[in-house]
Amino acid sequence: MTTFQTVDDLERGQRLLVRIDINAPVEDGVVQDNRRFARHAETIAELLENDHAVAILAHQGRPGRETFVPLEGHAEILADHLGREVEYVPDTFGEEALEAIDDLDSGDVLVLENARMCDEELPEEDPEVKAETEFVRTLAPEFDAYVNDAYSAAHRSHASLVGFPQVMDAYAGRVMEAEYTANSAIQEREFNGPVTMVLGGTKAEDLIPVIEQVDDTVDRFCLGGIVGELFLRADGHDVGYDVDGTDFFDHQWDDHRETIERVLSEYGDRLHLASDLAYEDVEGERAEKTVEEIEKATSYLDVGGETTGEYVDLVGDSEAVFVKGALGVFEDERFADGTVDVLSAIAETDCFSVVGGGDTARSIEMYDLDEDDFSHVSVAGGAYVRALTGEGLVGVDVLEQAD
Ligand code: 3PG
Ligand code: MG
Repeated sequence: MTTFQTVDDLERGQRLLVRIDINAPVEDGVVQDNRRFARHAETIAELLENDHAVAILAHQGRPGRETFVPLEGHAEILADHLGREVEYVPDTFGEEALEAIDDLDSGDVLVLENARMCDEELPEEDPEVKAETEFVRTLAPEFDAYVNDAYSAAHRSHASLVGFPQVMDAYAGRVMEAEYTANSAIQEREFNGPVTMVLGGTKAEDLIPVIEQVDDTVDRFCLGGIVGELFLRADGHDVGYDVDGTDFFDHQWDDHRETIERVLSEYGDRLHLASDLAYEDVEGERAEKTVEEIEKATSYLDVGGETTGEYVDLVGDSEAVFVKGALGVFEDERFADGTVDVLSAIAETDCFSVVGGGDTARSIEMYDLDEDDFSHVSVAGGAYVRALTGEGLVGVDVLEQAD
């Protein structure tokens, strides 16, 4: 288990460079609030209460994508969450940035420009190499310490995440601390009862390594979503095929067929597949069929009621439950039952529970479930998957070295 210094170890009134992850959806050029802002705002509020001066580093999108935009809108959203002014500086480590940092007083907060607008940020290189960049060498001397709160980006070996801890006192922020502790529990903790994993969503390449890596820790897997259909296809059912020109299944089948078939035979009864599925009938209503009745030409959008009942019983009888990915297309209310009923069942039990994968966490908000009924709701995507597989996160590892 990694040990790192946290903000509890900081003396009051420091000048802090704080890396957060407010990478968010962008619609028509406008950044959309997501739960990451609220989470990081709590860390920032605590730092400001302790008289620190806070300069924020973050990223948005990637060069060449439509989501690659400046952080002006992000600063506004953060200001809303904090209920106070947040200065936006359209520069990362040039003169304008250095002047603004110089003017920063205790209790002030500013947001520097999108770190990915610096050429040195993105190429994945060793932390030692990142520590030598102009970006890091210019900003580091301006601060007393570096705080990394960006757990959800900690799988990236980028300058703003791994360079600074090489040359500065480095601390984990509250989000980093909470995410790391909860998400590593699957590898680190002993549970005295059944451990269940609920796996859904769209990406087989994310889920298959998880299933394979947690072989010793997880007692049973409840599968749904597109990945669940691919397993049903491997089990000989007429499902998990692209219909109506969609492009979800067939290429994943080609890429992962062998592994899926092997996992299916090796894990046997521990893998629970849907026994029924839901689809849209000609009247536009939700209808269901058992997997024996299903037909290739239909799009299935949720697990059926019988499957949901089985999964609800399994999580109800668990000591720990880890969720990654939704069981159905919960964005459409007609097909939210599987995802929402299973999450509600987890919320009702006392088990240790972690829910992750950006979209799945959104269903908690959409359907008015209470985040406090879960041990942890992760705001991470790729980093969460890596934590489940037990793979280290470079951004966390460098905090440990910095001790
Ligand atoms: C994320 O949103 O997944 C993280 O911020 C990392 O972003 P990336 O996937 O673009 O590297
Ligand atoms: Mg990502």
